[in-house]
Amino acid sequence: MDAFAQFLQAKYALDQRSLNPVVWRRFLNELSGRTPLDLLDVGTGTGSMFRRILQHYDHGAMRLSGLDIESGLLDIAEKEIIDLLQAKGFAVENGAGRLCAVNDEDRIEFQRVCTPLTDFRSVPNCFDIITAHAFMDLVSLQQTLAGFYSRLKPGGLFYATINYDGETVLFPPYPDSEFEDALLQAYDASMEARRLNGSETGGAKCGRRLYEELLNAGFEIVSYGSSDWNITPCDGAYLDDDHIVLDRLLGWIYSEGRINPSIDLKKLDRWLECRRQQRQKRMLGIIVHQIDVLARKASRVSHEENTAWMF
Ligand SMILES: C[S@@+](CC[C@H](N)C(=O)[O-])C[C@H]1O[C@@H](n2cnc3c(N)ncnc32)[C@H](O)[C@@H]1O
Repeated sequence: MDAFAQFLQAKYALDQRSLNPVVWRRFLNELSGRTPLDLLDVGTGTGSMFRRILQHYDHGAMRLSGLDIESGLLDIAEKEIIDLLQAKGFAVENGAGRLCAVNDEDRIEFQRVCTPLTDFRSVPNCFDIITAHAFMDLVSLQQTLAGFYSRLKPGGLFYATINYDGETVLFPPYPDSEFEDALLQAYDASMEARRLNGSETGGAKCGRRLYEELLNAGFEIVSYGSSDWNITPCDGAYLDDDHIVLDRLLGWIYSEGRINPSIDLKKLDRWLECRRQQRQKRMLGIIVHQIDVLARKASRVSHEENTAWMF
């Protein structure tokens, strides 16, 4: 498994602890009664959102489509979903790019869609639910939300979770706080500078932008709230696999500092050394501010809204 897949797997438990509980419960409540449920997860990675739903929701029939550009990640997603469904007593068949799991009451299908989101084509009004977990900062909000709106059935839901919202704080405070502030600004600036096919992306303030762009796209906001990552030692130990996530975050912050001309490289190396030592001693903490939002497409929509379906 490559380092990025390891990171995704390591953050599964952290994400579950961090999801905003009110928004999550509201999302689960909204699922019930919609059967069969047609669900699209974009940027599915190792399938964390589907695994979470299958673990926590007492489901009926479901058709799950997992979209990602990385086929290696989709391989892992598929294997994890098979393992989970088999552990729940489903008989699983896998053929022709579609996985089908049945038990006495339910039928669950999983289809992998290996394509960039911008190339994804489907008919309008075909999904009950679209989910995007730690993804919206990577794509153009306006364009993507217009595509989601037209693909959702009237009354359909968009659940976007773990959207970074422009604040990363490290503990204990670093003695040269001015340097660390500049470094964290460079880290956020790298996300702000990200472009996809020439368009601005959700970027470092994705959480708050998403709220605004959802309203602009015609969605109603059902529920929202913070889903901050608290990677903080508890009685001298990190929870779950948080230490792996912490190492990756330190590495990414450092890498962005290396390529930013305003960052002093000697100070940067000293910073990494200090923060790594604190991490070894299980003293280092990091809090990352994020936002979850659940939004709904109106139950009655105009013809024009229904036909604007291209990404
Ligand atoms: C931060 S990861 C989140 C993965 C997963 N949702 C999770 O949190 O465990 C973002 C995912 O989006 C995928 N991705 C990035 N840009 C994409 C695009 N334009 N179209 C489809 N997938 C994309 C990546 O391959 C990666 O798996």
